[in-house]
Amino acid sequence: MSLAAPQANGVARRVGAGPAIDLDSLLTVREFEAVARRVLDPVHYDYVAGGAGDEVTVRANEDGFGRLSLLPRVLRGSARRDLSVTLFGTRSSMPVLISPTAFHRLVCAEGEIATARAAARAGTIMIVSMASTVAVGEVAAAARAAAPDGDPALWFQLYLQPDLDDTVALISRATGAGCRALVVTVDSPVLGANERSRRNRFHDLPAGMACENLRDLRGGEPGVVRQIAMSPELSWEHIDWLREHTDLPILLKGVLHPEDARLAVRHGVDGLLLSNHGGRQLDTVPATIDLLPEFLAAVDARVPVLLDGGVRRGTDVVKALALGAAAVGVGRPVVWGLAAAGEEGAARVLELLRAEVDHTVALCGARGLADLTPDLVRPAAGGRR
Ligand code: FNR
Repeated sequence: MSLAAPQANGVARRVGAGPAIDLDSLLTVREFEAVARRVLDPVHYDYVAGGAGDEVTVRANEDGFGRLSLLPRVLRGSARRDLSVTLFGTRSSMPVLISPTAFHRLVCAEGEIATARAAARAGTIMIVSMASTVAVGEVAAAARAAAPDGDPALWFQLYLQPDLDDTVALISRATGAGCRALVVTVDSPVLGANERSRRNRFHDLPAGMACENLRDLRGGEPGVVRQIAMSPELSWEHIDWLREHTDLPILLKGVLHPEDARLAVRHGVDGLLLSNHGGRQLDTVPATIDLLPEFLAAVDARVPVLLDGGVRRGTDVVKALALGAAAVGVGRPVVWGLAAAGEEGAARVLELLRAEVDHTVALCGARGLADLTPDLVRPAAGGRR
């Protein structure tokens, strides 16, 4: 297998002459990140790896898991462990979903087509970003062809658009493509300040690349990175409005304050994805894993709570589930997989995580996800990974 190499225009592509790499030799998400860093244009690597401001939250997300220990049970395991979860009617073969990340064609030629195929092969849920560089209809077609049962698990991430007709059009594109839930990102009244990208003057997508879902919409400027945001004046009334305009389950992504979690439940959302956008929006907000217990207490089991941010290991997944998350999402790890080896790389990242989760569940003396309970998680003494 050959690696992607940066081109003059910054778009990574497969090149036959690149150094050979044995995908099987990459055993961890971190090793995939190291390869991605080597093969991507540094501007694009920075766009993906970077966060807002001093990147305090980017680091905190990962460190948060390191400050927790697992305290396993013994003599109660099982030879086969069921890792599947069903969320809002969508089955996933494991409790690890693909969080929405923008612009996959920046890191691999096939873009979101490759991601969708990898997700379908893994039997897990892909949340297609509104800012995908392949239109959601085409992503869905690729996923359908790759899913063993022809029925892939796709959700659609939406930023409510300043022009509500545009929002209606986006919902109809996602629904028409067969997406089974809407994940509405609400932490971006304005875009976060990624200073790496500002320094790199990364404002526009390379020629020939665009946010395909925004094509032909009134407010769309599909090639402009900075345009991908919601409008600052949105309010809970817009969530009520959205509820009237779709029958799909609605999850809010990016609610952090427990009071907002309560409000979200009151406004009838079906679920919450506890996320700080991978540290890319407001810097210095807490790690999501640190917030999880307080957040769950506010939600009081009225809707499922998913979590993303800093998940890099099966032990991270198990800690989040044991504390009460219904599932976790991964953002950057899948992008690192795509950058290293397109569909195969993303598929390998997902399988590594699946194997790690299964191994951790076994070592915790659990027969399945239902056995993951809060008593398995303790504060670590001065812990850092
Ligand atoms: C994102 N994220 C994101 N979220 C969203 O709602 N819509 C989007 O288009 C994007 N785009 C995006 C691009 C890139 C390059 C990254 C790294 C992240 C945030 C994403 O869904 C998720 O919350 C974080 O990535 C989770 O953190 P980890 O797994 O990357 O640590």
